[in-house]
Amino acid sequence: MRLENKVAVVTGASSGVGREIALLFAKEGAKVVAVARRAERLAALEEQSKELAGEIVAYAGDISLEETNEAMIDFAIEKFGKFDILINNAGLMDNFAPAENLDTELLMRLMQVDVYGPAWATRKAVRVFMENENGGNIVNVASIAGICGGKSGCAYTMAKHAVIGLTKNTAFSYRLNKIRCNAICPAGINTEMTDPALFATADQKGLQNAMLSMNFGTRNAEAFEIADVALFLASDAAAVVNGAIVTADSGLISF
Ligand SMILES: NC(=O)c1ccc[n+]([C@@H]2O[C@H](COP(=O)([O-])OP(=O)(O)OC[C@H]3O[C@@H](n4cnc5c(N)ncnc54)[C@H](OP(=O)(O)O)[C@@H]3O)[C@@H](O)[C@H]2O)c1
Repeated sequence: MRLENKVAVVTGASSGVGREIALLFAKEGAKVVAVARRAERLAALEEQSKELAGEIVAYAGDISLEETNEAMIDFAIEKFGKFDILINNAGLMDNFAPAENLDTELLMRLMQVDVYGPAWATRKAVRVFMENENGGNIVNVASIAGICGGKSGCAYTMAKHAVIGLTKNTAFSYRLNKIRCNAICPAGINTEMTDPALFATADQKGLQNAMLSMNFGTRNAEAFEIADVALFLASDAAAVVNGAIVTADSGLISF
């Protein structure tokens, strides 16, 4: 097992990628604190983990609040006595709006969930990891929107570019503390976030533009395939991988 005796906090674990990461990490022996707002979904996940080598415990909270990001990590330490891995996965997508149609409320919400939450969680995590003999490990789930300019709306592109900055600065700043920080950049993944019903209410100018650069015949990923990448980065198999921006997009941005 690749995560035996490790304690992980996974945000956005009530659906999609985060749910698959929590389950895979528990299969690999980790003790996982699963964070999201929908408590009933987390309870089901907790139940499901009883058959696995590790364990999942639920922590219901909103990561757009500074205090949740402190409390979820304190909870992991209280419950399991240590803390080794942070997965900043929770995220919110925008409505594909380009700059001319930026909605202030959505822009601010996106920054809170996709940028400030991971930043506050990272601050707390590195403070703990610096005291750990074996340091610690952070994986941020960004997006190809964090590398390119034309894959989503303006707000989401801005937010995911910020996550890349958070990743690189953290990797550099703590390179001598046995702390690694990497980011995964998927293209489309089949989750609630890409429910076709949501596209009907999207900004049509932005959506049409984004689709122009998505049309190379590459397929969407399944959430478990992104979880596999997270497992690699979080495990000792990636011991020399730090500050990496790992695309998981079936080659989309290479074409
Ligand atoms: N799907 C894609 O095509 C795609 C592509 C590239 C990157 N990504 C990134 O992958 C990550 C996971 O997305 P997904 O596709 O798995 O989406 P998803 O199925 O919609 O899951 C999003 C998760 O984030 C949680 N979340 C949202 N706001 C939260 C908040 N304020 N506090 C706590 N948890 C919150 C949700 O839980 P609750 O609602 O229960 O709180 C849910 O568990 C995101 O960072 C996303 O930007 C997705």
